[in-house]
Amino acid sequence: MSKKHLDKIVSLCKRKGFVFPNSEIYGGLKASYDYGPLGVDLKKAISEKWWEAMTRNFSNIVGLDSSIMVHPDVWEASGHVANFNDPMTDNKDNKKRYRVDDLLLQQKSKVIDALCNMMSIENTNDNDTIDKISSTLLNDTDKYNDALESAGVIDPFSGNIGKWTQATQFNLMFKTNAGPSEKTGKSIYLRPETAQGIYINYLLVQNSMRLKVPFGIAQIGKAFRNEIIARNFIFRTREFEQMEMQYFVHPSEDESSMKFWKEQRIDFYSSELGINKENLKFHQHSEDSLAHYAKDAFDIEYNFPFGWGEVEGIHNRTDFDLKEHEKLSGKNMMYFDAIKNEKYHPYIIETSTGLNRLFLMVLCEAYHEDTENSRIVLKLPFDLAPNKIVVCPLLKKDGLPEKAQEIFNIVSSEHKCVYDEQGSIGKRYYRQDEAGTPFGITIDHETLDNNTVTIRERDSMEQHRISLDKILEFVSNNK
Ligand code: GAP
Repeated sequence: MSKKHLDKIVSLCKRKGFVFPNSEIYGGLKASYDYGPLGVDLKKAISEKWWEAMTRNFSNIVGLDSSIMVHPDVWEASGHVANFNDPMTDNKDNKKRYRVDDLLLQQKSKVIDALCNMMSIENTNDNDTIDKISSTLLNDTDKYNDALESAGVIDPFSGNIGKWTQATQFNLMFKTNAGPSEKTGKSIYLRPETAQGIYINYLLVQNSMRLKVPFGIAQIGKAFRNEIIARNFIFRTREFEQMEMQYFVHPSEDESSMKFWKEQRIDFYSSELGINKENLKFHQHSEDSLAHYAKDAFDIEYNFPFGWGEVEGIHNRTDFDLKEHEKLSGKNMMYFDAIKNEKYHPYIIETSTGLNRLFLMVLCEAYHEDTENSRIVLKLPFDLAPNKIVVCPLLKKDGLPEKAQEIFNIVSSEHKCVYDEQGSIGKRYYRQDEAGTPFGITIDHETLDNNTVTIRERDSMEQHRISLDKILEFVSNNK
């Protein structure tokens, strides 16, 4: 799939009511999107799959819904105030701003070679090389002041070698003020991850639910990052939804738990979201590129039209967060194992994914151009499709709409359905193929005679004549 396909998916999303550009009547707000009627249902279906995979499949994983805004000390303790930065640079010529690692990813290998030579870094042709160059630029700013310019780093916007400013750190948290922040003199932040809400509540959850280690806490909620560059449609935005599960284990169990969750999570994508395993891979972070809290980290990446991109991070966060919160709050954050009479800070294995990225991944995987039949079809898994069945009277007369309404009422008691009587039957089917609706039912004159309908399958376009009372059975056998 080429990058061109992303443009086609963006346009389909707007046309069909999946995703709209935000504030369009005012010229739009960069990197902000609204989810339309079909988008809301698809997003909900993905998050429900995740919630089920966590809280239904595991009796020792429970849910939480913590606040977006928390005490400002939370972000001091977590290290986000000091460390949650991205390296950034501006082109002095046109004032365009870039994340250094993003900028480098788009350069020719000659340019990366030149930077590696300058900084005595081995070029391993991967993201780790880019991370090493970015951190060297930040750590030795005097020495590498004009490295980007002298290596010939191109500005993707102008196509010319940029006149680059010195790389600097840019904190990604959105700062705001709220009542208590004025009292404490500290800023309130919109949370950049949902995880901290889980850590600060973990003993309350554990006590109230009488949980024993190992146990997990799952949460779905909004997170905010002031991304320097937000691009590739909904892949990277400043407001997004995270689905995070923090698994609390005995420190001796961290590596086996990490292995377990890696397998669980990659299987989830193929078994629950219909993603082809060939389009998924793990990327292990090198020591240099680990987040400040992590001992080990793996990304699950998906083969997007613009290249491989992270959809989920699985991190061994050790006892870093709990100990830091204990230090700053002065409150005991240890777990007490009454059976072994042992007190300790559990290690945390985190699985963290972005709902909006999964939404984009599901759309990219489902998007098909059926050139033979001149149609676009979204091959969404049945459970994820916003509408499951379209009900169509062949004509708008002869009692067919009334019969179709009757059938609509029967099937919509089990499945989300849509009714359509506008245009030719072929056009109606194609409209629903683009929306990912798996089945179409047509009511014609024969239906009035013998209570049979035509049911059409989206992917194969095969049509079957079945009796009315067999519709639900047919759907459940063929979904
Ligand atoms: N609590 C750990 C954490 O937040 P992360 O790797 O920074 O780890 C986890 O983020 C996931 O959140 C990513 O894999 C991605 O799916 C999603 N995510 C992060 N930043 C995002 C953004 N700006 N837009 C959309 N999704 C984002």
